[in-house]
Amino acid sequence: MKFGYFDDANKEYVITTPKTPLPWINYLGCNEFFSLISNTQGGYTFYKDAKLLRLTRYRYNNVPTDMGGKYFYVKDGDTVWNPGWQPTQTELDEYECRHGIGYSRFTGKKNGLKASALSFVPMNDNCEVTQLTLTNESNEKKSVKVFSYVEWCLWNADDDMKNFQRLLSCGEMEVEGSTIYHKTEYRERRNHYAVYSVNAPVAGFDTSRDEFLGAYRSAANPEVVEKGQCTNSMASGWSPIACQQLNVELAPGESKDFVFVLGYIENPQEEKWEDSAMQVINKKRAHEMLARYATTDDVKKALDELHAYWAKLLSKYQVSSKDEKVNRMVNIWNQYQCMVTFNMSRSASYYESGIGRGMGFRDSCQDLLGFVHLIPDRARERIIDIASTQFEDGSAYHQYQPLTKKGNSDIGSGFNDDPLWLIAGTSAYVRETGDVSILDVMTPFDNDASKATPLMNHLKRSFDYIATHKGPHDLPLIGRADWNDCLNLNCFSEHPGESFQTFGPSEGPVAESVFIAGMFVKYGEEYAQLCELKGDNAEAARARAEVEKMYAAILKDGWDGEWFVRAYDAFSHKVGSKECEEGQIFIEPQGFCVLAGVGVKEGLAEKALNSVKEKLDTKYGVMILQPAYTKYHLELGEVSSYPPGYKENAGIFCHNNPWVSIAETVIGRGDRAFEIYKKTCPAYIEDISEIHRTEPYVYSQMVAGADAPRHGEAKNSWLTGTAAWTFVNVSQYILGVYPTHNGLQINPCVPTGFGDFDLIRTYRGVNYHVSVKNPNGVQKGVTKIVVDGKELVGTSVIPYEAGKTDVTVQVVMG
Ligand code: BGC
Ligand code: NOJ
Repeated sequence: MKFGYFDDANKEYVITTPKTPLPWINYLGCNEFFSLISNTQGGYTFYKDAKLLRLTRYRYNNVPTDMGGKYFYVKDGDTVWNPGWQPTQTELDEYECRHGIGYSRFTGKKNGLKASALSFVPMNDNCEVTQLTLTNESNEKKSVKVFSYVEWCLWNADDDMKNFQRLLSCGEMEVEGSTIYHKTEYRERRNHYAVYSVNAPVAGFDTSRDEFLGAYRSAANPEVVEKGQCTNSMASGWSPIACQQLNVELAPGESKDFVFVLGYIENPQEEKWEDSAMQVINKKRAHEMLARYATTDDVKKALDELHAYWAKLLSKYQVSSKDEKVNRMVNIWNQYQCMVTFNMSRSASYYESGIGRGMGFRDSCQDLLGFVHLIPDRARERIIDIASTQFEDGSAYHQYQPLTKKGNSDIGSGFNDDPLWLIAGTSAYVRETGDVSILDVMTPFDNDASKATPLMNHLKRSFDYIATHKGPHDLPLIGRADWNDCLNLNCFSEHPGESFQTFGPSEGPVAESVFIAGMFVKYGEEYAQLCELKGDNAEAARARAEVEKMYAAILKDGWDGEWFVRAYDAFSHKVGSKECEEGQIFIEPQGFCVLAGVGVKEGLAEKALNSVKEKLDTKYGVMILQPAYTKYHLELGEVSSYPPGYKENAGIFCHNNPWVSIAETVIGRGDRAFEIYKKTCPAYIEDISEIHRTEPYVYSQMVAGADAPRHGEAKNSWLTGTAAWTFVNVSQYILGVYPTHNGLQINPCVPTGFGDFDLIRTYRGVNYHVSVKNPNGVQKGVTKIVVDGKELVGTSVIPYEAGKTDVTVQVVMG
């Protein structure tokens, strides 16, 4: 069943009922100011950091779900309704929500009145603009009242939910005409305030939630709206809000527009006050911001700018094949999600509260892989930020806070895959841009500038950390965990409340990871290539020798007969082996070892992938392990804490499905690679939205596995490494345009019947117009590449030539 449809021409998903199985959201903002916005106008807004600088409040775990947003109440006679249906839930005559690229548009109709709200965050401004358009579609004159409503968060979202004894006395507001200022804590150490304004005279306002809602009421039935008149309340402590009342007269057929701006303003210390004695805030910057969006023309201009920005970004990879779902995902939604994951890491979604995790070291490095072609400069800055949190010995803080960019000591370090992801991210950046100078950037350790050293040295420390932390089988020590955060082989937690991520020793001398070994083979080679680019052939040779040792160790002790072993536990027992009672086969080493090339020439790769198909596959995707753990295993940790079929315990963890799909392309099986691609790909499962339940335009982290009662149901949409890895898979391996240090390599691996396709790829400023013909319908293999009319001999890499703007590439598969 569907709850909407794709409108590819407008790059929108159109939701046709507010009653989606779960809130279906969108992200507004792509720089520093962000809003999450659901299909019923729920959501929250923050500046830079969803924990420390939260503008509006959101009610997690609320019933009904998705409470808190930027709402508009329309009072038309005795009927009160919202264009996004919530919070009154008054049935609408018509409803539509269009989630687009960086904007959302809601249209509700009731009793001949149409209310349409368009929201977006303009480029380079710290505000969200909403244009509300009211149209009288009836034959009678209408006299309606509109009430806006946002509830402020008292900045630190964590404190806001806990520290009531303090914060319920802190709220402070100012009102000036149609503009409401939220200035809690500005009197002391904050230099910022928030503003909510409308470009029309108001018939009243409220800033106190208690006055607006009335006692024992909720946002579903505010007293002020019911009575039809604001009280001009000034909040003093308790819960400040912003509500503006507009009284609107509309002749039949008449339309009126109102522009609402929700903004964040920072003042320099010396310009903090307009009147310090009276504690009146300096509003100059707010006035300037509001002036930029004073009219609907201003809004149109800002929206056009946003459209143009995205059109340019997305144009960097555009495919035209006969499979419209591939085109839709590649050209629009997958790239869009890559931007969102790059911005958010795993901080703020409807499943990540924004108060827990900040930027993940491994997460952000992987997010880069799907983002770097969009805005390489931002990827460059991110790499340096991440590397700056690394420790001198090459290990890494697992997370850092976006506002401070400092490592988060609550979680600490000890995830032994982390260091290698820095090589992955940097290599992707250098291959994309050719900008070797990043390797010379002086980069601190642990944010201590006195310990700065060239980035290249960070990569060396990353590499060496793995090379020098090996266990009894010469495989990498796993530490707290590797990519699978839940494989906690040194944790041994027996008491509830202990965090699997931090309890127990961060290192153990025995437990090893075959997955990290596979990573080492892949990224060790990429490290060696970076060394060569720097002219350090001796270091490249040393790296390759270490990689060879690791390769041999995997073949010796990491192979189980039909598939790769997952790990060795703290007692040196195998994890993910036929010898185990439960958890006999894990997906991660099959995917990653094979994509790294391990076992390909020995014939093991094919065996491993056949085992994946046989043991882990389902119609909804490939499960992370089988058989599921049915009981808690002290020696394995969180992986066995989940009920069978969920999350890391035999869920379909979408993130590593593309690894297996890539692995299939490595051995040339295009049919199987594509089959795996399709199973978790949102556009292909739109029709089963009642089962899948999360948004049909983005990937989710997890889909319940075969052991779960709700097999096929997804959770944790949006913020997942799945976005980057599926984009890498489809763009670089299936469609086969892979950036190397010397140029683009073209080597598609497609399913039978995929047919010919064209694509445009902008790489280092050059537009490559690639046309692939597949006369014999092969899955893999290129017989001819013609570049600007000249045949390429002996290579599939198109040499990069600076100075060209457009290059035509004709590829013949066979
Ligand atoms: C989840 C993992 C996640 C980890 C982060 C665990 O509870 O299952 O998916 O990576 O928390 O801390
Ligand atoms: C989600 C985390 O964000 C990611 O870092 C981790 O690799 C996966 N879960 C698997 O545990």
